[in-house]
Amino acid sequence: MSKIETPVVILNVKAYQESMGKNGLALAKACEEVTEESGVSTIICPQQFDLGWIARQVKIPCFAQHLDAKDVGSATGWVLPETAKEAGAQGTLINHAEHRITIADIDALITRCQTLGLTNVVCTNNIQVSAAVASLNPDMIAIEPPELIGTGVPVSKADPDIVTGSVTRVKEINKDVVVLCGAGISTGEDVKAAIELGTAGVLLASGVVKADDPKTVLLDLVSGI
Ligand code: G3P
Repeated sequence: MSKIETPVVILNVKAYQESMGKNGLALAKACEEVTEESGVSTIICPQQFDLGWIARQVKIPCFAQHLDAKDVGSATGWVLPETAKEAGAQGTLINHAEHRITIADIDALITRCQTLGLTNVVCTNNIQVSAAVASLNPDMIAIEPPELIGTGVPVSKADPDIVTGSVTRVKEINKDVVVLCGAGISTGEDVKAAIELGTAGVLLASGVVKADDPKTVLLDLVSGI
């Protein structure tokens, strides 16, 4: 079971120029300040190379953007759950639309995260996949229709049925799973709509990372909670 407080805003900074290195730390600090000022839980997923040094400088949880289900040892270039934990990660995204993996690896990673005490957020693309993943006992599921990612068109308004449908199916299968939604979220109104559809928060990226003033956008986002 996840130790993360909900509702939650999870910022996945992806691989944008605006989130590399020092820019990534500035985004993490902005999340931290917004959590301190609003009391709303935020989490940041720094670029993989940046996770360790950023995690040492902020109090909010840092999650990996992706992990590989490889064993510790002879595994060149893969990113292991054990390494992420050692670097200061408190959790991870799994199966993001931009980094899909097999159902067998999703299952293996959920189990591995549970053993290590890492919170897992499994991304799904439709109601059926949300239902399938719910049976694997993840901590959280984030429903993100790929066609809305990066568009600025919020899933919570453009496709509310995929959100309510996922919440209903997931809770029928496993009531302990926390459901989030993402894709195109960029305002407090989008977040409010997401919460009203039964989610416990949002997963987002471009609306904050590419904003001129990320902190102002974050403050607006948490105002929807
Ligand atoms: O992981 C978050 C995501 O894929 C949504 O991206 O840019 O539409 O907020 P974005």
